[in-house]
Amino acid sequence: MYSRIVGTGRYLPEKILTNAELETMVETTSEWILSRTGIERRHIAADHESTSTMATEAARKAMEAAGVGPDEIDFVIVGTTTPDRIFPNVGCLVANALGLGEAPAMSVEAACSGFIYALSIADKYIRCGEAKCALVIGAETLSRIVDWEDRQTCVLFGDGAGAVILKASDEEGVISTHLNANGAYKDLLYSTGGVSCPRDSDELGEARIKMRGNEVFKVAVTKLGEIVQQTLAANNLEKSDIDWLIPHQANNRIITATAKKLGMPMDRVILTVQDHGNTSAASVPLALDVAVRSGKLKHGDLLLLEAFGGGFTWGSALIRY
Ligand code: ACO
Repeated sequence: MYSRIVGTGRYLPEKILTNAELETMVETTSEWILSRTGIERRHIAADHESTSTMATEAARKAMEAAGVGPDEIDFVIVGTTTPDRIFPNVGCLVANALGLGEAPAMSVEAACSGFIYALSIADKYIRCGEAKCALVIGAETLSRIVDWEDRQTCVLFGDGAGAVILKASDEEGVISTHLNANGAYKDLLYSTGGVSCPRDSDELGEARIKMRGNEVFKVAVTKLGEIVQQTLAANNLEKSDIDWLIPHQANNRIITATAKKLGMPMDRVILTVQDHGNTSAASVPLALDVAVRSGKLKHGDLLLLEAFGGGFTWGSALIRY
């Protein structure tokens, strides 16, 4: 028994924030942002939007692409680090908006690796026969936790959502997933504004992203290189067997470094970071949907998805499309 991706969808808010506009907000230049990150623009959620509303739109498109109705979905999981509320979880809000009935619905919090974590869990549920048709989403409203006065972080992040429908199948689909985490890196990338952090903590107050970018960069490149090797070794594959790399869209330089380790030419790498910046858990399913709808992916192609984020968490998924 396998789980297979049978439909994808994405949603990006209408409002676009360009590098030129950021020049008027903080001391930066379009050239600096482009050369250090590859980002040209990011989308920002409107006041009436939230993680669950964007996730719902992406899910609708994935269901439409898969030809799946609300009655068929028996498992809902959302990777997000910016939920609408502490509870109900975003999965419940999406399931309600889509009229999915009483299927189990949850969210998983693994920062930028949230979608890979969610995909891994949904795959296991399907493989063990607990579910037949899962809605798997990555969605974020990072603009609400960005410090818009911090030029080191505010240029990097954006909002959006991506979704896939995962169905039980006899045909090969998700081949393997690999997840890792190491909380020893907790101080390199985190948010303030904790719910239950100690009352005398200096992390109380509004939620804001804090990052030591240069150090994050180095660990990301190392750990992504390791997980790519781990994934290949677990499946007795050579680097040359991978048809497409669909990486977490954080930074063009991290993506290029990972592609180089895989010996993959950049025309086999799905690159969308220029259009939406780092959307955390949404970035891999956003890139996947772009790849699917552009017609690049062919039935039978071997895809390697990977992500790295706060925690640190990191993970990969090897998928036969
Ligand atoms: N505009 C202009 N100058 C800036 C800006 C900015 N927006 N931000 C920082 N600088 C300056 C710094 O102050 C520093 O100046 P100094 O030399 O006078 O001290 C200089 O630029 C270089 O700063 P670095 O931090 O060394 O720049 P670096 O080349 O590392 O690029 C960046 C910074 C883009 C944040 C990079 O480290 C990065 O992408 N890290 C990964 C972060 C990331 O993607 N995190 C998201 C979650 S984890 C993940 O998704 C992988």
